[in-house]
Parts: sequence; structure tokens; C-alpha cells
Amino acid sequence: MVKAVVLGAAGGIGQPLSLLLKTNPLISELALYDIVNTPGVAADLSHIATPAKVQGFLPPDDGLKKALTGADIVVIPAGVPRKPGMTRLGIAFRDDLFKINAGIVRDLATGIATTAPKAFVLVISNPVNSTVPIVAEVFKKNGVFDPKRIFGVTTLDVVRASTFVSEILGDFSLAPSIKIPVVGGHSGVTIIPLLSQSSHPLPSSLKQDALDALVYRIQFGGDEVVKAKDGAGSATLSMAYAGAEFAEKILRAVKGEKGIVAPTYVHLSADKAGGDAIKKEIGKDLDFFSAPVELGPDGVVKINSLGKVTEYEQKLIQAALPDLATNIEKGSSFIDAPK
Ligand code: NAD
Ligand code: LMR
Repeated sequence: MVKAVVLGAAGGIGQPLSLLLKTNPLISELALYDIVNTPGVAADLSHIATPAKVQGFLPPDDGLKKALTGADIVVIPAGVPRKPGMTRLGIAFRDDLFKINAGIVRDLATGIATTAPKAFVLVISNPVNSTVPIVAEVFKKNGVFDPKRIFGVTTLDVVRASTFVSEILGDFSLAPSIKIPVVGGHSGVTIIPLLSQSSHPLPSSLKQDALDALVYRIQFGGDEVVKAKDGAGSATLSMAYAGAEFAEKILRAVKGEKGIVAPTYVHLSADKAGGDAIKKEIGKDLDFFSAPVELGPDGVVKINSLGKVTEYEQKLIQAALPDLATNIEKGSSFIDAPK
């Protein structure tokens, strides 16, 4: 019996993500929480002939607590996406989002820490580089911090890397089987695709400017969607797909499947030896980093090494570190900052 909870379930990501979770046979109970519309979304999904029992909750009458009671896995896509007209690229917009989403994530994390402290927490709300530290600090404050169970969802970057590389290889049918570790964080230059480790090597004829363009596209893929949606928000459907894929990996690992590895943004103490090795590889003592993580019944089993990286990729790593350090500090210090 597995209970999954979506916080922010009525939103652009929340609805399709809830749909995908409803179709996952590993889930027996699905609780949908949002500040609006969850009764309708839940009623709609509840007619789908799959095992999960669906219920919707709103803030009145302790709705958050009721949604979270007995939760095994909690996915958080709550908060604002890029606002209409927000055209600035890269990290700047995520700072704007921080102002609103930090408080939302703090309050939801407090609910999880007090009601379902053992649940796996999957954070989608931006800026992920800072919201995951917020969740960690809230859990510490409540004395229930387990770094093995808190994950920043960076799967969309991984999904984009596979898709864009399949495009370069001229064969979209390869996309599902192309595996590329994308490490670092989830914003602009902190997104580091290790393309030299692609399961499907790039053509040796690929010129440096084409490689630069590919890296840029993976790092700033979110901008493509924001521009195309023209004021209507950011990626929702591809994010729902990516979030459901990562949740499925967690659930399969919980069921005992071995050898499941996925890049995800974690506190590096989740596996001290692995985390220390990453710090050595990047040459900086960061608390959080997205690395290939082996998953098991209790969450993080092992943080894998970044492996052999090229000189070019080492430069990408070094370029990511200042922003990552600032983002992490911003999230961590938010909890101690005056509310
Ligand atoms: P949206 O506005 O469509 O939906 C957000 C939902 O959160 C809304 O239904 C809203 O009512 C709800 N919400 C707001 N405050 C809440 C609270 N206190 N408790 C519960 N629910 C609350 O936005 P969206 O497009 O679904 O994006 C959601 C977040 O995901 C944004 O921060 C966005 O930047 C982020 N995002 C992350 C990734 C990623 O790769 N990690 C990808 C895309 C979007
Ligand atoms: C994305 O990568 O698409 C998300 O982080 C949303 C955004 O605003 O870019």
C-alpha cells in the first residue's frame, strides 16, 4: 500500500502529474492538496479505472494535515511559475520566484515534517537550488531531517538532454534510451550535462559551437517553453512527465528493485563517502549537488561519482559553483531569517 500526495495538485504541473500518478499501479492512495480546485480535480481523476483511491483537500478543516497523514511520498509542484511577461533568462527569474515560493515551500515542508516526517519528499517548486535547502532546514528545525529522503527533481533536465541529443543524432526514436547524466543544480549554468558520458555518443564531427549550443539548450530549455507559451507560464506537461518518472523510480526502489540510479539534487550527507567524493571532484564544499544517486527502500543508497569528465565539462562545473553556493545559502538562511 503506497500513499502519494501532491501539494499544488490543481496547477499546471499538478494536474497532469496527478493524472500520471493515478495511472501508476504502484500507488494505492492519492491525496491532492492545493489552495483551490482540488475537489474537482480529485472527482475527475477518481473515475479513472486504476487502483489508486483519490481524494482532494483544501486548507480549511486541517486539509493539509489530512492530505499528508500516512503519506509515503510527497511531490511538491506548489507555487508560482514564471509570471506572464517575465522574459529575463537564466537565474534572475528564479530569484523573483524565490520571494513567493520560499514561504509556500517552508509552510508545506512544516506540514510534512510534523505529519509525515518519514515520507520521501520530491521538490519541484522553483528555484529548486534554494527550495530543497529550505525543506532540509525545516526538517532540521523539527528534528526529523533525513537527507536520504529529500530530493530536488532535476529530471526535466535529464529528459531534455535525451531529447535534444536524439535530435542531433537525427533519430527521435532513440530518445527514450539515451542516458546522459545531468548534474549540478536546476537553473541556467548550474545545469551541467555530462555529454561525454552519453550512452549514445555525439557525432565526432560535431563542432565546438554546436556543442556549446547543445549545452546552452539543455541549460536554458525552460526559456524555450516560456517564450513559446507567450505569457501563459512555463513547462508543465514535460515537467509532469519528468516528475512522474522520478516518482516511479523512487517507488520501484522502495519495492526492492536494485540498481536504480537517477540524477537528483540531494544533501551530500545523504551518503557521506559519496558526498565527500563529489566535493573533491568539484573542488568545493557544497551541501547540495545534483549527482547520479542510487536509490533503495530508504531513499539514497549511494551518491555516485561524477566519473570521467572532460576539460570542457570541468569548466562547466566550475562555472556553476558560485551560483550554486549562493542559491544554497539563500535557501538555508531563509529559515533563520525573520519571517
Ligand atoms: P501553477 O501556477 O500552474 O500551479 C501552481 C499551483 O500551486 C496552483 O494550483 C496554486 O494554487 C498552488 N499553490 C499556491 N500556493 C500554494 C500553497 N500554499 N499550498 C498548496 N498549493 C499552492 O504553476 P506550475 O506551472 O504548475 O509550476 C509550479 C512550480 O513548478 C513553479 O515554481 C515552477 O517554476 C516550477 N517548475 C519546476 C520545474 C523543475 O524542473 N523542477 C519545471 C517546471 C516548473
Ligand atoms: C524549467 O526548467 O522548465 C522550469 O524550471 C521552469 C522555468 O521557468 O524554466
